[in-house]
Amino acid sequence: MSYKTDVLILGTGIAGLSSAVTLAEKGYQVTIVTREKDPAATNTVWAQGGIIYAKGSENELVDDIMKASSGTSYLPAAELVAKHSSELLEEFLVQKAGVDFERNNLGEFEFTKEAAHSCARILYKGDYTGREIQISLLRYLNDKNKFPNVKFLTSHTAIDLLTSLHHGIEIPQRYEENKVLGAYLYDQESKVVKKYMAKFTILATGGVGSLYLHHTNSEGARGDGHAMAKRAGAQVIDMEFIQFHPTTFYGGSTHRRFLISEAVRGEGGVLINSKGERFMRKYSSDLELASRDIVARAIAEEIIISQNDCVYLDITHKPQEWVKTRFPTIYKHCLEHDVDITKEPIPVVPAAHYTCGGVKTDLNGRTTISHLYAVGEVACTGLHGANRLASTSLLEGLSFGAFAARDIEKRIDAEEIYSAQKIREWVDGTKEVDTALIQQDWLTLKQTMWNYVGLTRSRDRLIRANAMFRELKDEIDRFYKDAKLVDSLIGLRNSVEVAQMVLTASLRNNKSVGCFYRKS
Ligand code: SIN
Repeated sequence: MSYKTDVLILGTGIAGLSSAVTLAEKGYQVTIVTREKDPAATNTVWAQGGIIYAKGSENELVDDIMKASSGTSYLPAAELVAKHSSELLEEFLVQKAGVDFERNNLGEFEFTKEAAHSCARILYKGDYTGREIQISLLRYLNDKNKFPNVKFLTSHTAIDLLTSLHHGIEIPQRYEENKVLGAYLYDQESKVVKKYMAKFTILATGGVGSLYLHHTNSEGARGDGHAMAKRAGAQVIDMEFIQFHPTTFYGGSTHRRFLISEAVRGEGGVLINSKGERFMRKYSSDLELASRDIVARAIAEEIIISQNDCVYLDITHKPQEWVKTRFPTIYKHCLEHDVDITKEPIPVVPAAHYTCGGVKTDLNGRTTISHLYAVGEVACTGLHGANRLASTSLLEGLSFGAFAARDIEKRIDAEEIYSAQKIREWVDGTKEVDTALIQQDWLTLKQTMWNYVGLTRSRDRLIRANAMFRELKDEIDRFYKDAKLVDSLIGLRNSVEVAQMVLTASLRNNKSVGCFYRKS
């Protein structure tokens, strides 16, 4: 079964939707794909803190980005985002999507501060900025009168990017330019694999946080885009730079981690250990607002010293009503777990949060393989270097989503869709998968990533993980060949490949920098 579209966008978070808006407004046929039932189930939705509005502090923002990354960010990427993002934010988020950022009585934007920012420049909506942005952008794009050319495909899992080299029917197709022609999509409901042919394909599939046992992401952040891009021949770089967020709610060792926004520290929250001591002064003169890597490692150290399972984040000195209004989601979540944050400190631990590396792109979002773009967390523009500054993730997604779409606009009229007849049909296996095997493999992968490829890495741990992943990969490849596809198997196959990317990059780099820390 084959289908055609001008542009195929894989992913429905801020980056994918920013590309979609730009292209849809120019009248192109845009197909936006998600493996979720609900297009709002993204990582964007979980973003609490906010999005930078750099107008008036462009140069300072560049300095802060460079400083947070220990000088490793790609300066042209930082300058580009600092220069153009406020305009894009105003146009896309405020004017078009109608995102309701917090404002004062005069109708002016309210700003908050987060770690490693030299001034308060972050726009926010309570502690659910990502959700507000996600819902507003979806509402805007779902207007059928305005955008009859936009189609959402939900419950569709991308299996592989199509290239003539890998999927052509005839041998001579291998000698054509290796370019991406669309993707194989697995329809979870009909169980059919569709060939979706496109002039251009944009990866906006998010990061790899859910490879870790404890993380702040949606479970969909399993590196599907990274794995598909690599298999198609694109470069994936900087994968050792996994950022851990210092503060997630600790409700017991098996409890799902829940983000406690950096904005809580930005608004004056202090970190204390189990003895009630404010410990950050031992680690940085910036105290609680030191960059994330410093705070996360300080917390891990305090947990070891105190032999307690967590440390605590205290915001009880602020007026109760203010706390409830400023952080409604956090207040509610903690209360549901018997912690009233207006009266007692919040138990917190670090968790995997953001993938600074990814599919290598230039400043137009072009990957190293023709006709494939990558935007948002799946991409590596170099903006974050070895450590991302707070509240740059939504900003990067918004900006590069638009930059990529504008680049496509310049090229698309000269393009034709590749003939679907010249691309092989997908041949599904016949064996039903045993879900118990898949679940156990997932758990092994997540535990190994958490324990051996986590906040602190060492050669011994990485070598042990390497052996485990090799065995896991052989096993998964073996049963993938004959299995009837299911979404979790597609994800598992991708995840183990991506775990190996993180591991290999970590082994190769023995210099601790930014969020990457090796003790040996
Ligand atoms: C947070 O609210 O702490 C997360 C913001 C970010 O990751 O930039």
